[in-house]
Amino acid sequence: MAEKWTPETWRSKPIQQVPDYPDKAALDAVEAKLATYPPLVFAGEARKLKKQLAEVAEGRAFLLQGGDCTESFAEHRADNIRDFFRVFLQMAVVLTYAAASPVVKVGRIAGQFAKPRSAPMEKIGDVELPSYRGDIINGIDFTEAERTPDPVRMEMAYRQSAATLNLIRAFAQGGFANLDHVHQWMLSFVKDSPQSSRYQDIADRITEALDFMRACGVDPDSAPQLRSTDFFTSHEALLLGYEEALTRVDSTSGDWYSTTGHMVWIGYRTRQIDHAHVEFCRGIKNPIGLKCGPSMEPDNLLRLIDVLNPANEAGHLTLIARFGADKVYDHLPALVSAVEREGRKVVWSCDPMHGNTIKAATGFKTRPFERVLGEVEAFFAVHRAEGTHPGGIQVEMTGKAVTECTGGARAISEDDLSARYHTHCDPRLNADQALELAFLVAENIKKEREKRHAGVAAAS
Ligand code: TRP
Ligand code: MN
Repeated sequence: MAEKWTPETWRSKPIQQVPDYPDKAALDAVEAKLATYPPLVFAGEARKLKKQLAEVAEGRAFLLQGGDCTESFAEHRADNIRDFFRVFLQMAVVLTYAAASPVVKVGRIAGQFAKPRSAPMEKIGDVELPSYRGDIINGIDFTEAERTPDPVRMEMAYRQSAATLNLIRAFAQGGFANLDHVHQWMLSFVKDSPQSSRYQDIADRITEALDFMRACGVDPDSAPQLRSTDFFTSHEALLLGYEEALTRVDSTSGDWYSTTGHMVWIGYRTRQIDHAHVEFCRGIKNPIGLKCGPSMEPDNLLRLIDVLNPANEAGHLTLIARFGADKVYDHLPALVSAVEREGRKVVWSCDPMHGNTIKAATGFKTRPFERVLGEVEAFFAVHRAEGTHPGGIQVEMTGKAVTECTGGARAISEDDLSARYHTHCDPRLNADQALELAFLVAENIKKEREKRHAGVAAAS
């Protein structure tokens, strides 16, 4: 029998990746204050996302999840949010067309502030200070004042999340997401891309589809679903004191929901079955993600699934595979077939970023675009072989023209990285690379559909 769960039962479990707050009274005071603040998202929205993810689990939709590795207080500007959303929507259009099925849109945004670190301390010369753990915990500058965890930052993260969410909701519902606009942006991307001939075909066919619908009288003026979209938020549920303070009982269902974002995930470093992060996530009804990497064994995964999704509810659990392009074939097939054999309903998503980080000769952490793409292709190939649905992708991206990942159609080299390397944490795909990835994933989805159609034709 599962033990009783409450939003604070995680506190009696072992925990990884906790900041060491010097002033416990100040921490308690901020958490108590947050517990009285309004929720950032509403439980009904999380249920709507779960329904959409259930469609992904059944193979009838595709999940697109993306955004910053970590949001920062310094970059909290309207143009950053707008540019991210503009690229994200274009990716969604390309994927919707390629998959001929709905794309569930989830941002790593409006709450993605806390970062797990490989070492608790960082040493530069003779000075040793706590590692940077994300703006919700401490500051990135290497000074004692900045690096000391400060609970007041939680309140700032809450307010920034609220403002970001407010703008995105306005964009999603207020006309910015109009399909005709998004399509026009995409056409200018294709025209300017060095790979434009490769993308022209899909772009032309989307143009034709929209023209055809318009001729039939269906356009953004007549059909509200063409001028707005559902967009959901997500982040890693790492800072559990913050999550707990904003976990509330939904009055319509009596269930507990985290109201910090629609979906939250358990990171690769905090997935121990008897530890705090799994304990916290097992009690909330939001869609949950679980990162799966090379050290995850099938048995271990099945036990985690039992704990996190005991009712085997489709859409509740998304498994996010992050192996590294060259390790997917070694590990993913056994996990996928174990889940399939046991009849567990999950969404399989591919994070092609975190297993493909390397250090460039120039010292920058980077991710070669070919490896990112290679991981997505291997992920699709494994699912094709297993007869399961490659449900989605999760990428670290920005709407800006940064130089953090090498490669892509504009061939960013290791020497280019220093030009606009702005990330506070991991290297992100820039706007062009992100959209390019969507076009290349679209080619893979097309292959999958063709194979399915061939199978249907052969059977009839
Ligand atoms: N509402 C539909 C959807 O979200 C169609 C749509 C409208 C759309 N604007 C969009 C799709 C922007 C992708 C991007 O799927
Ligand atoms: Mn990251």
